[in-house]
Amino acid sequence: MKKIVCNTYEEVCNFGADIFVQQLKKKPDSVLGLATGSTPIDLYSDLVRRAKNGEVDFSKVRTFNLDEYYPIKASHPQSYRAFMEKHLFSKIKVESSNFLNGEASDPHAECAAYDAKVQKAGGIDLQLLGIGVNGHIAFIEPDSSYPLGSYLVELAEETLIANSRFFKEGENQPTSALSMGLSPIFSARHIMMLVTGPNKAPVIKRLFENVIHTDLPASLLHLHPNVTVVVDRAANGE
Ligand code: PGA
Repeated sequence: MKKIVCNTYEEVCNFGADIFVQQLKKKPDSVLGLATGSTPIDLYSDLVRRAKNGEVDFSKVRTFNLDEYYPIKASHPQSYRAFMEKHLFSKIKVESSNFLNGEASDPHAECAAYDAKVQKAGGIDLQLLGIGVNGHIAFIEPDSSYPLGSYLVELAEETLIANSRFFKEGENQPTSALSMGLSPIFSARHIMMLVTGPNKAPVIKRLFENVIHTDLPASLLHLHPNVTVVVDRAANGE
């Protein structure tokens, strides 16, 4: 696991966008794993700008998003599908975009079908990740055991609190989600995690103790051969 320290949030996103552009230069029909949350917002606007000025072409790309609330309607403004539409897919053309379906009647069948789709696509070339204050990746919340495949997960208290900022007063915040599991995430040839802000400094400090903490899902990434963690100075505890 490699750590890159940037000065600011903007630099982190710019660095991340450079990695995406390099990936697509090398393999225009890449399979990309995408993330939501506040961290990648500027990364996506940077990529849209670069696509518009012809620096990068997404038209052959297939994407898989990491997670989705469950249950939630795709049309709900806080669904991750709506987030991706707003920040990326309404602005650039891709070959296909894939999501865990927050409206699926059988969440377990939905997860199994999603994993099969990732596998059929040949796995992920570049996987973007964030990290929760509690060390979750995707919605793989701290637990004593972790399913390999994608799964229906009950969101942790810290996650519900952290994400409540996105929901309006009285708006129903889902307490569960469908999350990509470790197998599809670990199928990625390169994993890039972006982390910014002082509230992430404690979890980054713990992540770089270079120990697998069973209650810190992100620490499992130490077992993957190609992980880049891009932090700003604040998340690096400076
Ligand atoms: P954030 O979320 O980018 O909004 O901090 C990251 C995460 O929870 O994985």
